[in-house]
Amino acid sequence: MSNSTEVKNNIIKVGWECPSNIALVKYWGKYGRQLPCNSSISFTLSHAATRTFMTLGDEHSQHSPKVNFTFEGNENAAFQGRIEKFLASISEYFPFVLTHQLTIDSSNSFPHSSGIASSASGMGALALCLCDIDDQLNKRAVYNDDFYHRSSIIARLGSGSASRSVFGVMATWGKHQSIIGSSDEYAVPMAASVHPKFHTFHDDILIISPKEKSVSSSAGHHLMEGNPYAAARYKQAGERMRQLLSSLHTGDLDTFGKITEDEALTLHALMMCSDPSYILMEPNSLLVIKKIKQFRAESGLPVYFTLDAGPNVHVLYPDQYEVEINHFIISELKPLCHEGKIIRDKVNIQGPSKLI
Ligand code: PMV
Repeated sequence: MSNSTEVKNNIIKVGWECPSNIALVKYWGKYGRQLPCNSSISFTLSHAATRTFMTLGDEHSQHSPKVNFTFEGNENAAFQGRIEKFLASISEYFPFVLTHQLTIDSSNSFPHSSGIASSASGMGALALCLCDIDDQLNKRAVYNDDFYHRSSIIARLGSGSASRSVFGVMATWGKHQSIIGSSDEYAVPMAASVHPKFHTFHDDILIISPKEKSVSSSAGHHLMEGNPYAAARYKQAGERMRQLLSSLHTGDLDTFGKITEDEALTLHALMMCSDPSYILMEPNSLLVIKKIKQFRAESGLPVYFTLDAGPNVHVLYPDQYEVEINHFIISELKPLCHEGKIIRDKVNIQGPSKLI
């Protein structure tokens, strides 16, 4: 990590790359100010990431956020509006967002229209930049545990799952009795409690459909409020967290795989029994799931699936079986992907990186 934030003519320029993450126990349902109804845990990813550069410019007297936002070099009014609204909502933490012009440029490492959600990495990168500028202004820039802790709180206020993206390997978010220091307000890093075999895990993301989701995650969270199974679900998530944490600690792949797959299917089942009900899986998502189960049963190899709130399937497996499982993916699963698209990702050990 470089320590060379640019400060020229009172202008502060920072840049951060923040990874995306894939949840194993899913956050689905929230309360209060973006607080989770159950705890969740995720793998931090290596290749799916957002890079954001932020410049604190001249002072102005508008007393509301004034942002010049570009996405991959192009103006984007919709994103700009969302960011200005978000900045206004967190101005109590960063008064400078109301008084100084901000120039922000973001880009994603994953291709356009891949159907990969960017809110976790996008909000994570934004939060890291804001905390960095704030620390520069207050002359306390040290990129220590407290810096990432504060970044996690700010990222959460932008998008719940983003709170977990500011830590490498794995992170949990949400109060849980078996996780010391856990909180609904921020994520905590889990790398030290996870067996080394999970540090090199693969996540091949099969792009089943690149289309935008018909129901957003935030609408999905709200629908949990009327879901008749909500209370049972939150209880179940707590129990699954306990079991998954234990399997992550001991390296028990069977339990890891069972909980991970059950969670993915539960997430989609909750959508199907919301009112109104909706389905985000596509026929090929189901075909892929069936093929993975069948291949595992026949080969005995530890390969598992999970899904985000969308149709794409994440294929999870340990590094030592890469060759055999890659052969299966290419021959059996790739033909079921949109234009054969697969994003080959892995667990990210390092976490976010400071670019300037
Ligand atoms: O952070 P949000 O509001 O986009 O919600 C994310 C929800 C899931 O991705 C489905 C689960 C999770 O824990 O990341």
